[in-house]
Amino acid sequence: MGDKKRFTSSRKLDHLRICAEEPVESGDAGFGDIRFVHNALPECDMGTIDLSARFLGHTVNSPLFISAMTGGHPGTKDVNARLARAAGHYGLGMGVGSQRAALENPDLEDTFSVVRDEAPRAFLVANLGAVQLHDHGIEWAERAVQMIEANALAIHLNFLQEAIQPEGDHNAAGCFDAIGELCHHFRTPVIVKETGCGISGPLAQKCWGVGVSAIDIGGWGGTSWAAVESVRADKSALAEDQALRTLGQDFSSWGIPTVVSLAEVLATGSPVIASGGVRSGLDIAKGLAFGADLCGMALPLLKPAMESDEALVRTIDAIHRELTVAMFLTGSASVADLRKAPFYLTGLTRQQIGKDNAARVRR
Ligand SMILES: Cc1cc2nc3c(=O)[nH]c(=O)nc-3n(C[C@H](O)[C@H](O)[C@H](O)COP(=O)(O)O)c2cc1C
Repeated sequence: MGDKKRFTSSRKLDHLRICAEEPVESGDAGFGDIRFVHNALPECDMGTIDLSARFLGHTVNSPLFISAMTGGHPGTKDVNARLARAAGHYGLGMGVGSQRAALENPDLEDTFSVVRDEAPRAFLVANLGAVQLHDHGIEWAERAVQMIEANALAIHLNFLQEAIQPEGDHNAAGCFDAIGELCHHFRTPVIVKETGCGISGPLAQKCWGVGVSAIDIGGWGGTSWAAVESVRADKSALAEDQALRTLGQDFSSWGIPTVVSLAEVLATGSPVIASGGVRSGLDIAKGLAFGADLCGMALPLLKPAMESDEALVRTIDAIHRELTVAMFLTGSASVADLRKAPFYLTGLTRQQIGKDNAARVRR
């Protein structure tokens, strides 16, 4: 294996450990600025609330989406297997991490394909970076989808991380055209996904224009890849990496907060996955009421998935319980009802969304 390929794989393990053990969250995604109007007489039975949702023609049993995290190093296979077992058990949608390492080295394919083995009927999303799509074209996209028999392919945008990584890809030119080309020729739905800095309204508009099927916000306020790379640089013995540590720290405040990005993107089209700083069932309820189709979580599921199946089940049960309580107290018997639940928008989020987009968000 060449050095670059070995880096792609070993980096995956570094990322898991850093995310699980170090403070890597950036700030306030904006969910605290959404406040539901309490329904004192909800007129529905909490015991029969239906959490099921539709996304890209598929029905999932819950709007909780397991965001892309891992695969690509032998040590990540168990984590992906646990996440997939949970996806299968609860009927959740799930994304895998970037499949680049396995596309470079097929020996690593089982760290991804285990997900389909463990969740034969789940809605699964394959994952490829925009730069890898640009460099390797539709062939890699097809291989990524086949590897996990995916129902959709996410093309991730992570240029903040690339800019800070010592081994990062710094050339984004041509990536948008590559996405357009893919959408034109590919039968599998394409999702454009950020990884912690959010997507603006104008970029979303361009994406719908070339045939992108869905957008995953990946907004600011949750896991910060600037923070992750800063910690990674801090642990490096190389003197040149110390400058990257400061660069990472300074840019951990960079990005569009998730709820602001959600408003901008929803004003241009849908379907949309709200992700980035979603930290509870209540946040999921707020994301859905705001107009999202699903809500994605990565970091909150990572630690339990590294621990045990039981820990992951406990975490997901708690998230679902909180979502159910929020639905009950807004009188929402279904996700469709919740998407009509009234709320107040306050604080910095209200200011940042601006009049134009606020008027186009449903209320
Ligand atoms: C350990 C870890 C690895 C990740 N790897 C990927 C990846 O390979 N591809 C991708 O699109 N996003 C990746 N992400 C980003 C997440 O899918 C998500 O967009 C982001 O972490 C924001 O969600 P969170 O605040 O709930 O963590 C990763 C996140 C974590 C925590």
